Amino acid sequence: MDIDDQAALTSGSAFWTTTAAGGVPAITMTDGPHGVRLQSSDTDMLAGRPATCFPPAVASGSTWDPELLHRMGEALGRECRAMDVQVLLGPGINLKRTPLGGRNFEYFSEDPILSGVLATEWVRGLQAQGVGASLKHFAVNSQETDRMRISADVDERTLREMYLRAFQRVVTRAQPWTVMCAYNKVNGVYASQNHFLLTEVLRDEWGFEGLVVSDWGAVVDRVAALEAGLDLTMPGPDDAGDREVADAVRENRLDLDKTTKRIKRLVEMSVSDTTDFSVDEHHQLARQVAARGIVLLKNDDNVLPLRTEGQSIAVLGEFARTPRYQGGGSSQITPTRLDDALTEITATTTAPVRFAPGYRAGNTVDETLLAEAATLAAGSDIAVVFAGTTQETEGSDRTDIDLPAAHLALIERVAAANPRTVVVLSNGAVVRTSPWDAAVPGLVEAWLLGQAGGSAIADVLFGRVNPSGRLAETIPLKLADHPSHLDFPGENGHVRYGEGLHVGYRGFDAREQEVAYPFGFGLSYTTFEYGQVTATVTGDTIALSVPVTNTGGVDGREIVQVYVSKPGSRVQRSPRELKAFAAVDLASTATATATLTVDRDDLAYWDTRLGRWIVEDGDYLFAAGASSRDLRTTVTLSLDGTPDSRWPLAADSTVAEWFADPRGAALLTEVFAEARASGGSPLVTMADDEGIAQLLGGMPLDRLAMFPGSPFTPESLAKLAAQANG
Ligand code: BGC
Repeated sequence: MDIDDQAALTSGSAFWTTTAAGGVPAITMTDGPHGVRLQSSDTDMLAGRPATCFPPAVASGSTWDPELLHRMGEALGRECRAMDVQVLLGPGINLKRTPLGGRNFEYFSEDPILSGVLATEWVRGLQAQGVGASLKHFAVNSQETDRMRISADVDERTLREMYLRAFQRVVTRAQPWTVMCAYNKVNGVYASQNHFLLTEVLRDEWGFEGLVVSDWGAVVDRVAALEAGLDLTMPGPDDAGDREVADAVRENRLDLDKTTKRIKRLVEMSVSDTTDFSVDEHHQLARQVAARGIVLLKNDDNVLPLRTEGQSIAVLGEFARTPRYQGGGSSQITPTRLDDALTEITATTTAPVRFAPGYRAGNTVDETLLAEAATLAAGSDIAVVFAGTTQETEGSDRTDIDLPAAHLALIERVAAANPRTVVVLSNGAVVRTSPWDAAVPGLVEAWLLGQAGGSAIADVLFGRVNPSGRLAETIPLKLADHPSHLDFPGENGHVRYGEGLHVGYRGFDAREQEVAYPFGFGLSYTTFEYGQVTATVTGDTIALSVPVTNTGGVDGREIVQVYVSKPGSRVQRSPRELKAFAAVDLASTATATATLTVDRDDLAYWDTRLGRWIVEDGDYLFAAGASSRDLRTTVTLSLDGTPDSRWPLAADSTVAEWFADPRGAALLTEVFAEARASGGSPLVTMADDEGIAQLLGGMPLDRLAMFPGSPFTPESLAKLAAQANG
């Protein structure tokens, strides 16, 4: 292909289309992720054609239901086909590092396995329809503050084990057609120009076969980006950039062969037709996902479910009538229809339902509205308050996690007027629930639920759906408790990921800190009992079985979670990490066995000395339970470690390190014995004293060699190390 055509292919021809050049036709890409936002107006970039607004990831992530995510992916694929879209820009799988993240509503979880499992099925479902996914934002795009420039400074283990792990899972298991690079820098280098990320990790290690597209406007230097492994710069056109790229090729500074092949391949895989989809069926699916994503946080005295007759209900709060159902920015969908909870509640019960708005837009406490709401609450059998955040959007982070003052005031006044008060929350990232939740018997976390949220909320409130959503992120007692708190949002172009591996629940657990509601938590209208977990190792997988009984009066769905710990690990670890989960649907009083699989690879840690994944030898504790802090049954398994995973010993390894290694210990014992026998080493004799031995333990052998009376010389050390390392 002609060099100019090759160069032209590497940038868009318009906001949402690639360039047709050299006989390769153009394709259309559009947002994503929880609906198809095909731009419908030339003047308004955010206005899209009507499409099903499925629940944003904050809610679909709380379903813990990969099968449902697969179906949602398929439905999104059908809508893309209907609108002649070839690549949907999603899913977003960055970790929710901080509850302040402005885009948390677009991301699944604070845990990489949960995010990875759900996103894998989303991608498989979408791509099975012949539509490509764009896994984003690669990588470490966990904040919006200064997102286009900030450097996320993160240590290697944390990067591998936390921020890249979900990407690795989706890439290796679902081969998304495209990966979208992030705006930010990672350890000082723009993600769009990051050879380590885009080539060494993504392609060489993970075997990614697809195309890397830039986030919209993420590329600073087109040639540097292509060199690093980026293929397509969006949006376009960028004629000047294309010329620079062509010049670099002519001057043999750049080779576009691979990139050209990848773009051709993507276009060839794409389908261009317009099959139809059923608006009704997709709305129903959106409702099902929404209902599954709702998390019941509190249900004292079984205040819920609501009764469909003989119980008058006060519905309070504007969000009941005017739902808050998605966040702001590029993911904003124009829904095909919109359910509201007030209409759905009114339609479900034969008893009187009375409504008062309680607050207006903005955050001003309005006494008249509060008094009206309190009166309705006092005169009704039960009060349901709708409260939540008023805005969360791409492009900026939040500054606190508190509910707006007007919403807090409404909760307080209603709870004082009627002890049977249930709060329904609409929010894209967690809000503080303490201390006000102590004053209400019922609390329903309804997130941002998409266009069918109103009916889904009614489904759960009345018990047509028994809630099974689980928290995909911890709700802290207060913001300052959060592990990320001291290192967010950074300054002067850098944000230090100071909590390291201890992201989210890992950090709360490591510091034994109280939380409002732990990761994995969620109530049901029934109760479940766990039997003894059993485990067997077969090849590279560990199969676990957990008998679960529905001990309550209604049918329900339990999400069994498996957390793994490695007692006595040679590296720093979080107390426990989610490694598998599975749903069991159980009729009242029925028992069934949940079967879960943990892949050996998921037990590996990234060893920074060896530069690879290592499964440590020895005992692992597998705990199955209903949340990260409600572990019901455990089993210990001994696993064989990764071969050749011993840390090499060197002249600058310490005395203690030598003694910790069986071969090193034997060699050193021999040297010390010889020195003692010859009487020529006062240092060795002194080491008989326990205190001195301890002091010497921290000294590298080559430093010890510099002290008079040491049994080592540089030559003998080199020999010793060679012997130790075999
Ligand atoms: C967002 C992406 C989005 C793209 C196209 C960017 O600002 O970060 O998530 O896909 O715009 O709208």
